[in-house]
Amino acid sequence: MAVLVVATGNPGKVAEMQEYLHDTAWNLQLKPPELEIEETGTTFLENAELKASQVAKALGQWAIADDSGLAVDALGGAPGLYSARYGKTNQDRIDRLLKDLGENPNRRAKFICAVAIARPDGTIAAKAEGECPGEILREMQGDGGFGYDPIFYVPEYQQTFAEMSGELKNRISHRGKAFEKILPQVTALGNEQV
Ligand code: IMP
Repeated sequence: MAVLVVATGNPGKVAEMQEYLHDTAWNLQLKPPELEIEETGTTFLENAELKASQVAKALGQWAIADDSGLAVDALGGAPGLYSARYGKTNQDRIDRLLKDLGENPNRRAKFICAVAIARPDGTIAAKAEGECPGEILREMQGDGGFGYDPIFYVPEYQQTFAEMSGELKNRISHRGKAFEKILPQVTALGNEQV
């Protein structure tokens, strides 16, 4: 099996990606912890490409990376690229977002995910973006998921991300959509390696 290094320090992310890519010839591996990566891009796609490219080049191996976040319309797309750094804990981030939005009637928001795969020389072989539109509730609902899930409501399913089954969230989420789009290319690239 061909090795595909995941440009993350988070083993949970590798497990999640393995699920999306389970029918491919790739064997996913966590990046070595001593290899630091920078997120200096100005878009989710730029960050995914930067991370995949840096790791691939440093190791001389194929690498994959994703980058995601929540963009709230009435906040001009914030927290956006700063979604992970909007507060110290999940609760801090949710509290800050609800405070920033206040009683604003425009609750429209979307989760965005970009994913990119880089060749061992650091060039990008494939990339894709996925989005999931929804609304920001005034209070938390549900206790599954992570991050902003309890305040992100998807009208089509009348549930927050935190109330959904993992199977449903994976299918309709920004990450699910991005991986669905990139899957044919990642599969073909994997088949070329074996
Ligand atoms: P990253 O892609 O791991 O850098 O994630 C960025 C941040 O966006 C996370 O720390 C979360 O705060 C937020 N985020 C991304 N995807 C989700 C999701 O599916 N649910 C809730 N929060 C998310």
